[in-house]
Amino acid sequence: DAIAYGLDTPYAVEFHDRLPSTNDRARELAAEGASDRLVVADEQTGGRGRLDRSWDSPPGGVYASLLRRPDRPPAHAPVFTLAAAVAVTRACREAGVDAVIKWPNDVLVAGSERKLAGVLTEMEGEADRISWLIVGIGANVDVDGATLPTGATSVRAAGGDVDRRRFCQRVVETVHGLAPDAVLPAWRENAVTLGRLVRVETPGGTVEGEAVDVEFPGALVVRTDDGDRVVHAGDCEHLRPA
Ligand code: BTN
Repeated sequence: DAIAYGLDTPYAVEFHDRLPSTNDRARELAAEGASDRLVVADEQTGGRGRLDRSWDSPPGGVYASLLRRPDRPPAHAPVFTLAAAVAVTRACREAGVDAVIKWPNDVLVAGSERKLAGVLTEMEGEADRISWLIVGIGANVDVDGATLPTGATSVRAAGGDVDRRRFCQRVVETVHGLAPDAVLPAWRENAVTLGRLVRVETPGGTVEGEAVDVEFPGALVVRTDDGDRVVHAGDCEHLRPA
């Protein structure tokens, strides 16, 4: 069930049985000047997550990195990350698992805090233009839930369809087809964070309050006792419902 066979995409696909990290491979391609590439691996030995975490990447998952050079300012990069989260969420739903997004781009099983997938975006920018952008997607699809870290689950464990090729195809199609203006509305529609009481660990300290909106290019608006705070990056925890 190799994913690469039959993937129908405008990107040139590079498939590997095993890699340290598809994002690292995409960075090599970026350094060579490449663009519009999709790197897919069946397994990663050094998968990386957000905030310097590692990402468990056993066989059966979907590990894919999309390298592009969008003609946009570096500040717009988060939009591409949110688009990937929307795409993965839709792919999970099509696989029969009710999935939702936790800000900014964790995909959870609805009604639980258990994580199915995540997105790691890396970018190099010039002053007014993105030089290269890599959107790395890790999704636990056909993975035994018991082998995953605490708090994680898989499409298989949630009773969904485990066709990885189809899953990957749908993700790539949606990312490609989602117009920039459609990203935020689609994200809001699929998000579980809005309306919840959250605690966000940001580089500038902890922000706690009700998550009231997501605004361009992907910032979370949190209603705190001291007024609204706009949070651009950080680790978000859902507290009790708002
Ligand atoms: C997260 O922390 O939630 C993001 C996880 C992103 C993992 C994917 S797997 C494919 C790509 N290659 C990596 O090394 N990381 C990303």
